[in-house]
Amino acid sequence: MRRKFVAGNWKMNGSLAALAELEAIAAAIDPRVDVAVAVPATLIHAANARAGFPIGAQDVHAADSGAHTGCLSAPMIAEAGAAFAIVGHSERRQGQHETDADVKAKAEALHRHRLDAILCVGETLDQREAGQAEAVVTAQVLASLPEGAAGDWLAIAYEPIWAIGTGKVATVADVETMHAAICSALVEALGQEAADAIRLLYGGSVTAENAAGLLHAAEVDGALVGGASLTAAKFVPIIKAAAG
Ligand code: 13P
Repeated sequence: MRRKFVAGNWKMNGSLAALAELEAIAAAIDPRVDVAVAVPATLIHAANARAGFPIGAQDVHAADSGAHTGCLSAPMIAEAGAAFAIVGHSERRQGQHETDADVKAKAEALHRHRLDAILCVGETLDQREAGQAEAVVTAQVLASLPEGAAGDWLAIAYEPIWAIGTGKVATVADVETMHAAICSALVEALGQEAADAIRLLYGGSVTAENAAGLLHAAEVDGALVGGASLTAAKFVPIIKAAAG
């Protein structure tokens, strides 16, 4: 069985004062579970000094350097102390108009610089209600999949957009069906062995209350947690649920 992986995404939240939460999380980590938190880029350096577990960025530019005002490259986030970055979060696909090709190039930039990636995919409510969820998500996976995709550096997070920050969590059955579809797409693209090694996370309104059911569902290797990763009080029970 693959080790469970519980990752936090602080989004545009947090401050130097909030980094005490990372120390509290570190103190409670279960050795059976991989834990990581993606913080705002301004906090990566300080967070890395204090957390004692992998700290990541929430985005990266595909280029190593150049005229890209406001952007950060993989070597820059690595130098700041990031061990990984999230790419293709729906808030960036929608808010910043990122395409599958952009997401693929960002993941490849991370890999070039020996950073890990959490690649996000997910459907809108309209797409789900139209019966297109699996087709949309597997197409995203195949079009965003970086060259050299392998489980030692890449995880895929299925985050239905309608479940993010809404309190509306996908059912275990929905997650199992989608993760099975993603697995099949990965097997088609990479072969069975490579596909099996890539961890599949679920994200979208994961809390201490629903984590155990989701984290132990078939083909679920972990969670990508937004709001409930902001405090140790909410995040540690999710880590414990992954271990249990
Ligand atoms: P919430 O856990 O706040 O729904 O956010 C999920 C998410 O988008 C993590 O990347």
